[in-house]
Amino acid sequence: MATQILSNPPKIRKAVFPVGGMGTRFLPATKAMPKEMLTVVDRPLIHYAVDEARAAGIEEFIFVTGRGKTAIEDYFDENYELKALLANRGQQAIWEDLRRSLPQAGQVVYTRQPEPLGLGHAIWCARHIVGNEPFAVILADILIQSGKPALQQLCDHYHTRPGGMAIATMTIAAEDTKRFGIVGGVQTGDTIAVDALLEKPDPAHAPSRQGIVGRYILPPSIFAALESQKTGLSGEIQLTDAMAAILPQTQTTGVVIPGQHFDCGNKIGWLQANLAYALARPDLHHDVRRILAQQPAKAA
Ligand code: UTP
Repeated sequence: MATQILSNPPKIRKAVFPVGGMGTRFLPATKAMPKEMLTVVDRPLIHYAVDEARAAGIEEFIFVTGRGKTAIEDYFDENYELKALLANRGQQAIWEDLRRSLPQAGQVVYTRQPEPLGLGHAIWCARHIVGNEPFAVILADILIQSGKPALQQLCDHYHTRPGGMAIATMTIAAEDTKRFGIVGGVQTGDTIAVDALLEKPDPAHAPSRQGIVGRYILPPSIFAALESQKTGLSGEIQLTDAMAAILPQTQTTGVVIPGQHFDCGNKIGWLQANLAYALARPDLHHDVRRILAQQPAKAA
């Protein structure tokens, strides 16, 4: 396997947020609102993703949107009416807090995926904005609760051995391999020397129980691989297939992230995330515990 070690590792400056999917598993909520605007407690999923990227040192936030996704652009924009209203009420601090947590002017770039042809296609749509440098990808619908933000953990590992690909993984249940991209390879501590990548294999064919949890660092060579990809599972251009295509020439590390992940693209995952995040909030956890304790074991 050819390994490219750079003497002066490039910083990961750009993150792509593919948000062009239709979110069909979350209908009817996603009929007229983007899945990425679903809230966990009081923040949209996409805001958690941007927070995570910023914590990892990302400076440019690239959103690949699609039809019906303008709420995401509005969310990261100024809101003069709200600002004035809060100022009139003497609540500027709320506005200032919110503003500080959003990217600054000029840091956000939007492009559009004309048709939802898959995650791989969405990333390919960002090729001219990313250019010729390694970049991060975050899937906002997978929320990760970990001590250190997951993308930061991935970047930290990447910088110790830069070049190639780095993929965040978590241990998943054997029966769940059909819902994830799965990595194969030799694991040493919390890293895996990846030698196989499979999209949603049956448990019998899965090379491990390390599932890809929506955080990647990819080299620009991924774009040519995506360009030549045929449609894969469910008629979509799959990112995992393009990564598998460049795997033989690309040093690839899986980084096992400790903690919990929530697939907020499905209803149970989203409900679990709401409970876990509310229980972790000092202002909410007492009330949430009280309400849970009051629930009858079985609905009448
Ligand atoms: P998912 O497969 O979870 O999203 O893609 P989906 O297709 O919207 O969901 P369902 O299966 O219909 O419920 C993971 C991420 O990739 C983005 C999604 O927005 C999500 O953030 N995506 C997916 C795109 O940007 N474009 C696509 O064509 C497909």
